[in-house]
Amino acid sequence: MSFLGRLFTKGGQRTIGIDFGSSELKAAQFAPSPHGPVLEHVYKVQTPANSIKDGVVTDPPLVGEALRQLISEGAFTAKRTVSAVAGPTVVVRQVTMPVMSERELRESTKYEAERFLPYSVDEAQIDAKILGKADDGQNMDVLVVAAQKDLVLSQASAIQFAGLTAGVVEVEPFAMVRAMIPADDPRFQQNIAIINVGASTTSINITKAGFVPFTRNVPIGGAAFTKAIATGLNISIDEAETMKREKAAILSQRDAAPVPPTVTRIFNVITPPLTELVTEIHKSLDYFRTRFRGEVIESVILGGGTARLSNLDAFLGHELGLPVSIANPLAQGAYNPADFPAEYLSDIGPSLIVAAGLALRDLAPVGGRMPVSA
Ligand SMILES: Nc1ncnc2c1ncn2[C@@H]1O[C@H](COP(=O)(O)OP(=O)(O)OP(=O)(O)O)[C@@H](O)[C@H]1O
Ligand SMILES: [Mg+2]
Repeated sequence: MSFLGRLFTKGGQRTIGIDFGSSELKAAQFAPSPHGPVLEHVYKVQTPANSIKDGVVTDPPLVGEALRQLISEGAFTAKRTVSAVAGPTVVVRQVTMPVMSERELRESTKYEAERFLPYSVDEAQIDAKILGKADDGQNMDVLVVAAQKDLVLSQASAIQFAGLTAGVVEVEPFAMVRAMIPADDPRFQQNIAIINVGASTTSINITKAGFVPFTRNVPIGGAAFTKAIATGLNISIDEAETMKREKAAILSQRDAAPVPPTVTRIFNVITPPLTELVTEIHKSLDYFRTRFRGEVIESVILGGGTARLSNLDAFLGHELGLPVSIANPLAQGAYNPADFPAEYLSDIGPSLIVAAGLALRDLAPVGGRMPVSA
C-alpha cells in the first residue's frame, strides 16, 4: 500500500473511493472514457455504532463486514481502493529542500517532518512529492504529507477484511477539491470555501487554484443536532434522527408562512449547536482573511450529509454574506440517467463529496480535470 505515493498518476484504472464516516460508509466508482469519467457505482451504508472515530477504524473486522455489504449491495466491481485521512494528526506542509533524488528525499523528509510533527516520526506514515525546482535551481519545493500510522493502518485493515485491496490514501480536503472544482471551472481561480458538515465533524477548507491553504476541523455536526432533538423532545436518538430528516428546518423571521409547532420546537432545540457551528465557520473564514490579507472568499460549497438539513444553505448564506451552493459532486461526472435518477444523485450527492473525489483520483485528467497537488 502506498500513502499518497502516486499523487500524479497517469491513471486509467478503476478504483473505489471509500469515505470512512463516523455515521455512514460511502463509496463511489467511476469508469474512464474519452469524454471524461463516467459514474458507475455509488452507495452508502450505516457505519456500525462507535466503530469509526476521526477516520480511525477502531473495529476493523466489523467495519470490514459493513464494507463488504456496501460493495455487494452497490454492485461495485473494482478491487483497488482509495481512502482518505483527515483530522488533527494529518499534517500537510510545503517545504523547500536542496535538489536531490526521490530516494534521498524519502530519508531527508523524516528529518524535515520531525520539526513540525506533533508526534514521533516513528508513529508517522510520511510521504513526499517533488512539486518542482525553485527559481534558483539549487532548491526544490516539496509537498510533505504525514498521518499517524494507526489511522492509515486501521483503514487498510478494514479494507482487507472486506476482501479489497488497500491502495492509495489521500488527504480529505484534496479529494473534496477534486470532486467540486475541476481546473476548467470558473471558480478554480477564486478562493472558495468547501465546508463538509458530517455527523461528528465539520471540515472547513479554503481552496484556490487546486491548493488548500486553509483547513480546519471542528467537532460539531449532524449528531449534535440529533442529540439536541432527542434531549429537547425527550425521545430516543433513532426517533430524533428520523424527526430531524423529516421535520427539522432552520427558520427565519423572513418566512411569511405559518410554521407547525413541532417544526418551531425542533428549530429552538437545534439553535444552540447551530449557533456554535456558524460561529466556528465565521471564525475560520475571518482567520483566513486576516492571515492572507487581500484574499477574498467568493462563495461557499456546502457538502456532507448535514448539508441536507432544510434551509441550512440559505441560513449560512445569510449569516456569512456569501453565496452558498449545495455540493452535488456526482453530477460532475457523466452518468446514465436510467441508472441514476437525478433526484437520487442530488439526494445522496452532498454526502459523497469525499468518496467521489477519491474515486476520481486515478482517472486520467480529461477535460481539464486535474489531480490536486496541495
Ligand atoms: N435529510 C437530512 N437532513 C438532515 N440531516 C441529514 C439528512 N440526511 C443525513 N443527515 C445527517 O448527515 C449526517 C451524515 O453525514 P455524513 O455521511 O457526511 O457524515 P459522516 O461522514 O459519517 O460523519 P463524519 O464526517 O463526521 O465522520 C448525519 O448526522 C445525518 O443525520
Ligand atoms: Mg464525513
